[in-house]
Amino acid sequence: MNDLWTPDEHGDERPSNDSANPHFDDILAARFDRRGVLRGGLVAAIGGLFGTTILGAGVIPGAARADTAASRLGFNPVTVGLGDQIVVPEGYRAAAFIPWGTPISGAMPAFALDNTADDQANQTGMHHDGMHFFPIDIREGAPGSSEDGLLVVNHEYIEPRFLLASMAGGAFDAESVLVVDGIRNADDVRKEAMAHGVSVVRIKRQADGSWSVVADPRNRRITALTPMKLAGPVAGSDLVRTKYSPDGTMTRGTINNCANGFTPWGTYLTCEENWAGYFRNGDTADGKPNLPREQKRYGLPTEQSRYAWELAEGGPDEFIRFDASTKAEDAAGDYRNEPSTFGWIVEIDPFDPEAVPVKHTALGRFAHEGIVFAPAVEGKPLVAYSGDDSRFEYIYKFVSAKPYSAATAGAGLLDEGTLYVARFKADGTGEWIALSFGENGLTAENGFASQAEVLVNTRLAADHVGATKMDRPEWGAVDPQTGAVYFTLTNNTKRTQAQVDAANPRAKNAFGQIIRWTADGDDQAAAGFTWDLFVIAGDQAQSKVFTGAALGEESILACPDGLSFDADGRLWIQTDIGGSEQNKGEMEPFGNNQMLCADPATGEIRRFLTGPVGQEITGWTMTPDQKTLFINVQHPGETTSADAFKTGELASHWPDGGKAYPRSSTVVITRDDGGIIGG
Ligand code: FEO
Ligand code: CA
Ligand code: CA
Repeated sequence: MNDLWTPDEHGDERPSNDSANPHFDDILAARFDRRGVLRGGLVAAIGGLFGTTILGAGVIPGAARADTAASRLGFNPVTVGLGDQIVVPEGYRAAAFIPWGTPISGAMPAFALDNTADDQANQTGMHHDGMHFFPIDIREGAPGSSEDGLLVVNHEYIEPRFLLASMAGGAFDAESVLVVDGIRNADDVRKEAMAHGVSVVRIKRQADGSWSVVADPRNRRITALTPMKLAGPVAGSDLVRTKYSPDGTMTRGTINNCANGFTPWGTYLTCEENWAGYFRNGDTADGKPNLPREQKRYGLPTEQSRYAWELAEGGPDEFIRFDASTKAEDAAGDYRNEPSTFGWIVEIDPFDPEAVPVKHTALGRFAHEGIVFAPAVEGKPLVAYSGDDSRFEYIYKFVSAKPYSAATAGAGLLDEGTLYVARFKADGTGEWIALSFGENGLTAENGFASQAEVLVNTRLAADHVGATKMDRPEWGAVDPQTGAVYFTLTNNTKRTQAQVDAANPRAKNAFGQIIRWTADGDDQAAAGFTWDLFVIAGDQAQSKVFTGAALGEESILACPDGLSFDADGRLWIQTDIGGSEQNKGEMEPFGNNQMLCADPATGEIRRFLTGPVGQEITGWTMTPDQKTLFINVQHPGETTSADAFKTGELASHWPDGGKAYPRSSTVVITRDDGGIIGG
C-alpha cells in the first residue's frame, strides 16, 4: 500500500512542484544583515545557523529568562515528554474528551470495535485535527457562554488497522485484508468514509469543571459523502461538471480536513489538505501516465488511491468516483472532473443542521492546511490567509471585494474577491501578487482562459507569477494586539543548498521555522509587507529566536504545525514530528510531540504540554473566558510497526489504557484555581 502503511509520511503528500521559479542564492546573509540592523540580534543569529559558536557550551539562555516578572507566561515549563500520557504544568489538569467513536447523534451508538458504518455515522470520527468552540449564544452577541457551546472538530484521516480491526477478526493484516482480488469490502469503505469529515457536538461544562456531550438536534456528522454546494467563480463552470452534478454546482463530501478557521459571523471553515491521494487516474498516452494539469500538478496517484475506495465491491457510484480515469462506459457523464471539486475551503453553519456545507472556490484550490482571518473591521474588506502544506508550495491571502459589515455578516464575502500569493524578498520586504485572470500574465495565451481556470489551477497560477516556494506552510495566526501574521513552516528535508532562500534558510530542513510579517501601513489588504523569522526551530545548538537567543531546555521544539493566538496575545505552538522519526536520531531530544506557549514581543517560549506516544498535538480553541482550553491528540500509537501490531505490542494505549487500541481525542485543559490558561 501507499502512504497509509508508511507512517513516516503519515498522510503528507509528496512534492509535486516542478516549476522553474527562482530560488534565492546568497540572499540569506543580506537578509539577516538588514534585519539585524533593524531589530538587533539577527546578525548573531546567523552565526548559530551555520554552526559557529555564539553561545558558550552549556549555557541555557531560556532558563535565565524563565522567571522574569514581566513575562506573559504564568506557568512553569514541563520537561520533554517520553511517556504515554499528557503532561501539563503544575496547577493544571488535562482530561481526554470525545475520543474517536463517541456517540453524538441518532441512536447514540456506544463505541465498540465492531461498530458498523451506520454507527460511525453517529459518532465522532477518527484523527481529530482543527476545531472551534462556538458559544451557544454567540449569535446573540459577544462574548458568549463559556459553559455551553458547539464544539466543531475536523477528522483529518483514518488508520484502517484500528478502524477495521474487529472486522478482520481482531488481527488486522493490511496486505491481506485491505484489497482482496482487486476489490475492497464495501462496508469497510463506507465505515472509512464515515470516519472522515467533521463533527458538530453540543457540550456543556458541569459543576465539577468537567465537560459532557449533550444530545442536541444540532449535533451532526459531516462525512466524505455529505452533499455540498460549490460557490464562487468555479461553481457552474465546465471544470466541475460531473455525472453527480451535470451543472457543476454540487459535489459530495469533504476529506482530509486538517486545520480550520472560523468566520466573524459564527460559521466554521474546514480545510481540505491532502485530498489528491484519495483519487487515482490511470489514463495513459504512449504508455505513460497522462493526467490533466489540474490533477498532475496536485500529485494525483496514477495507480491505486490512498485507501482504494474506488475498488469498493459492486462499484457504488459514491466510491467509483474516486477513479478519475476516462471510462468508456461513462459516455452519459463521468467523474473525470471529480478531483476538481476537492482542494477547497468548506463553510459549515454549526447552528443549522439542515444547512448544506459550501465549498468557496474564490479562496483557491490547493492542499489547504487552514485559514485564519485578520480582525474584521466594519467598512473594510475582509482578509484571510491560508497555507498550502506541501514541500515548495506557497502562502496565500484572500481579500474580499465587498467591505465587511456586521449587519450583513458573510453574505457573498467569501465568493468575490482577490486571491494573492506571497513573494518573500531577501531584503525583508515582501509582496502579494494577485492571481486574477488577465493580470500578471494569467491570460489565455498562457493557459488561463478564465478566473475559474486560474482557481482550479491555483498552484500553476502561483508558479506562473513567481511566488516563493516555502518549507511546507501549515497554520497561520494573527496577533490580536499588533496585527502581525505568523505562519509555521514545518520542515522540508528535500530543500537543497542551492534552493535555500531568506525565508527558508536551511537546506535539508528537518526542524522548521515560524515566519511572521506586518502589513504595510498596518493595512491587511495592502500589497506589501515586512517580514522576519520569529524562530528557527531545532535543538539548543541549531535553533534561534529572533532575539538572537537559542531555544533552551524549556523550549526546544521541532516541526511547528498548529499555531494560535489567545485573546491576551500569547502564541501557542504545536508540533508534528512525523511518525517513524519521533524520538529517533536528530529528533530524539524533542521527545513526544508537544505544545509550547510564546510571548511574541520578547521571544520567550515555554513548553506547556507534552503528549502521549506516536501522536501529534493539533487543534486549538478556548472558551471566551479563557478558562477552558481544548486541544487534540491525533493518531496516538501511529508509530506502532506492522510487526508489533500483529503481536499486540502497540506503541500507545492512550487514552483508555490497559491493552486498548489508541484513539485520537480532544483534551480539555483547565486550571485547578479556575484561572486563565497560560496566564
Ligand atoms: Fe494536516 Fe499539514 O497537516
Ligand atoms: Ca497540521
Ligand atoms: Ca504536519
